[in-house]
Formats: sequence, structure tokens, C-alpha cells
Amino acid sequence: MTGSNPTGDGAISLPAEIINAVRWAEHVVVLTGAGVSAESGVPTFRDAQTGLWATYKPEDLASVAAYRATPKLVWDWYAWRRELVTQAQPNAAHLALTAMQDIYTNFTLITQNVDGLHQRAGSHDVLELHGNLFRYKCLLCDQPATVDEWRHRSDVPACIHCGGAVRPDIVWFGEMLPSRPLAAAQFATRHCDLFLAIGTSSVVFPAAGLPLLAMEKGALVIEINPSETDLSDSAQFSIHDKAGAVLPALVHAKRNPN
Ligand code: OAD
Repeated sequence: MTGSNPTGDGAISLPAEIINAVRWAEHVVVLTGAGVSAESGVPTFRDAQTGLWATYKPEDLASVAAYRATPKLVWDWYAWRRELVTQAQPNAAHLALTAMQDIYTNFTLITQNVDGLHQRAGSHDVLELHGNLFRYKCLLCDQPATVDEWRHRSDVPACIHCGGAVRPDIVWFGEMLPSRPLAAAQFATRHCDLFLAIGTSSVVFPAAGLPLLAMEKGALVIEINPSETDLSDSAQFSIHDKAGAVLPALVHAKRNPN
């Protein structure tokens, strides 16, 4: 395990093993969590909710049972989150990951985030394990749905196929992850030589199992997170600093090999 060593001028000094790994890696897999969007002003999942929503726990809103019992409350919570994310901008970490996608021939970005900020930064083929706030489907018939976000800011829309309530296409508590992105994430993880786990508390499976799978298959796992997590003891390196500071330094190390 290691920490980064801020040099005082805002730049980050990284251990040689990490610099070499970033320079020589051929297949890089990145897993991101809510921490990668923290510097864009999007609160992390386990942060206390602010303002109006401070008294609710996400666990009590993000479930089929909650939506059935109080559809308007759950819809309004997601409308608030969409608004917050719409006003946020991708940060230096999101941008560094788009640079990595261009630098490495084999690069896979897996995210647990539902905010779409990776795509807004320019990342493509992002494997979204937990869905997306801006996609919808029917609670009853599961068909994809289109929503006029302005008109439906505070009304629960009805499915045009069956009349059921439209819901965000997000993985709620108790639900399975979408099988295609999960299978693609596991495949890439099994074949990578460098795995970066960024801004995730590493407590929610199956996403939290990906770095462990990477290690089992012989990849080097580097965690980037200002705090200790459940992964910190097992990852070969833990850089305890912000993603927006560390990722640009990794890109710099790869681009300037001397
Ligand atoms: P969490 O909110 O659990 O964890 C966010 C992590 O980001 C924490 O470990 C912070 O220390 C770290 N962090 C904060 N600021 C950071 C920064 N600037 N740079 C790097 N790291 C930073 O979020 P997730 O791990 O993404 O699932 O949560 C995983 C899943 O739990 C979510 O996707 C959600 C929830 O259940 C579903 O909704 C299905």
C-alpha cells in the first residue's frame, strides 16, 4: 500500500512501481464509483443527502417496494438528482479517463455511476453496471420508455405500451445487474494487466468483486480514493488522494516516459 506524495505545487509524486505499471500496461480496466463525480459537486452515495432530502436514506427510496408505495416521492427524488447532475460538469478525473481511452489500445471503463458524466466528458462504450438516471423503462412490462423530462419533472409518466408507471432504468436495491454490461465487465477484468478502482467504497457486489477477480487473474490493482476502503488492504497499491489529482498525473506519466 502507498499514499501519493503531494509535492506542494499541486502536482502528485507517484511511486516508480505505479509509474512503470501505467507506462507498460497493455490492457487497462477502470472501475469508477461515486467518488469520481464528487469533484463535480455530485454527492457520493454514502454522503448524507442534502437539503430537502436530508431525512431520507437512498436505501428507502431506491427500490420497487418504495416506488409502488410512494411513486411521486421516489419520482421527485430522481427528478432532483437529475437536475443536480444536469447542472454538474465533468471534472479532471472524467477528462483524464477520456485521455486514457485514446492512449491505450485496450481500455475498458466500467462504472457504478448513473450520472452519465463519463459520456459527457467524451468516454464511449462505458459499461454502466447500475443503469443511468436519464434512461427509463416501465415498472410493469420492462419496455424502454421515453420521457419528456421537462413535462414530467413532477408527474410520474405512464408507459405507452401497458399504462404502467415509468421508472428510471437504474438498478434498485434487491435487483439484478444488467447481464450484458456485467458479463463484458467480467470478461475485460479477467484479461487486463492493470485495474484501477477509483472513488468506490468497494462494498457493493458484484462490482466490488471485480478488482478481486483482476488480482486473482494476475493483474496489478491500484485503488485511488482519499479514504481507506474494504479494498485498501488487498489492492497492491492504494493512492489515498482525490481522483481529480491522481488521474491527470497517471496520464502525464504515460505520455512523458522519461
Ligand atoms: P460510495 O458513496 O459508497 O463511495 C464513494 C467513495 O468515493 C468513498 O469511498 C469516498 O471516500 C470516495 N471519494 C470521495 N471523494 C473522492 C474523490 N475526490 N476522488 C476519489 N474518491 C473519492 O459510492 P460507490 O462505491 O459508488 O448502487 O457506491 C456503490 C453503489 O452503492 C452505488 O452505485 C449504489 C449504492 O448502492 C446502486 O444504486 C445499485
